[in-house]
Amino acid sequence: MGHIISFTNQKGGVGKTTSAVNVALSLGVTEEKTLLIDLDPQANATTGVMDISDPPTSSIYDVLIKDVPVKDAITSTKFPELDLIASTNDLVGAEIELVSIMAREYQLQKCLKFIKKKYKFIIIDCPPSLGLLTINALTASDSIIIPIQSEYYALEGLGQLLNTVRLVQRHLNKKLEIAGVLMTMYDGRLNLSKQVADEVQGYFKDKLFKTLIHRNVRLSEAPSFGKPALLYDASSTGAMDYMNLTEEILHRVG
Ligand SMILES: Nc1ncnc2c1ncn2[C@@H]1O[C@H](COP(=O)(O)OP(=O)(O)O)[C@@H](O)[C@H]1O
Ligand SMILES: [Mg+2]
Repeated sequence: MGHIISFTNQKGGVGKTTSAVNVALSLGVTEEKTLLIDLDPQANATTGVMDISDPPTSSIYDVLIKDVPVKDAITSTKFPELDLIASTNDLVGAEIELVSIMAREYQLQKCLKFIKKKYKFIIIDCPPSLGLLTINALTASDSIIIPIQSEYYALEGLGQLLNTVRLVQRHLNKKLEIAGVLMTMYDGRLNLSKQVADEVQGYFKDKLFKTLIHRNVRLSEAPSFGKPALLYDASSTGAMDYMNLTEEILHRVG
């Protein structure tokens, strides 16, 4: 119970949020109600699943920095299968404010202890950096999934990410595992996409998920309707890719 999965890559625009939102909802639909935690100050996961005209009273910032009890920050979303701990722009300051907190790397883990048993899965959408917020996510997680965009500089920066994961495993969270590496925005018509996928496969071997997330316009349209692709257009390639991925994730960590 309470398996925590972070979607992490310090690069922006690689598909972390799209993957976190769609996997969280798929898990909620196929398994049990799932909790999505938005740990990015840009709050894209938050706006993707809830009405911003009715913002929650507390966010992940209040939990991490203001000692608000985590249960008070859990809000329902438009989808009965999915709960959310929202993000707000205040979270930008948390990177600095966390520095002076005792056991700062464990702050999120400590807070999630109280609700871990309530959910079968908790999904964390990480910010595009390797700062204290991401370290908190890695320290609190059982597994991470690394989305990689199928483009030329895909592997750039991955060494740094893997090094951070190793440091966390050694010093902060021994049980952290890489559940898998995920190719996103894959375009089968492009040689480049195939080359990059081959390169990633050569590097990560079995860690690469068999499911590729294809480039699909429905996935980029869905957020502007405040919906995950699964509900915006359930028959789209994007929705199906994420359903397949969710099955693979369940197989690996379920
Ligand atoms: N498979 C995909 N096909 C088409 N567009 C995508 C796909 N995945 C993500 N996008 C779009 O690419 C942009 C970056 O994705 P996002 O999930 O926000 O990345 P990150 O969270 O890593 O910054 C967004 O505009 C999103 O809608
Ligand atoms: Mg994002």
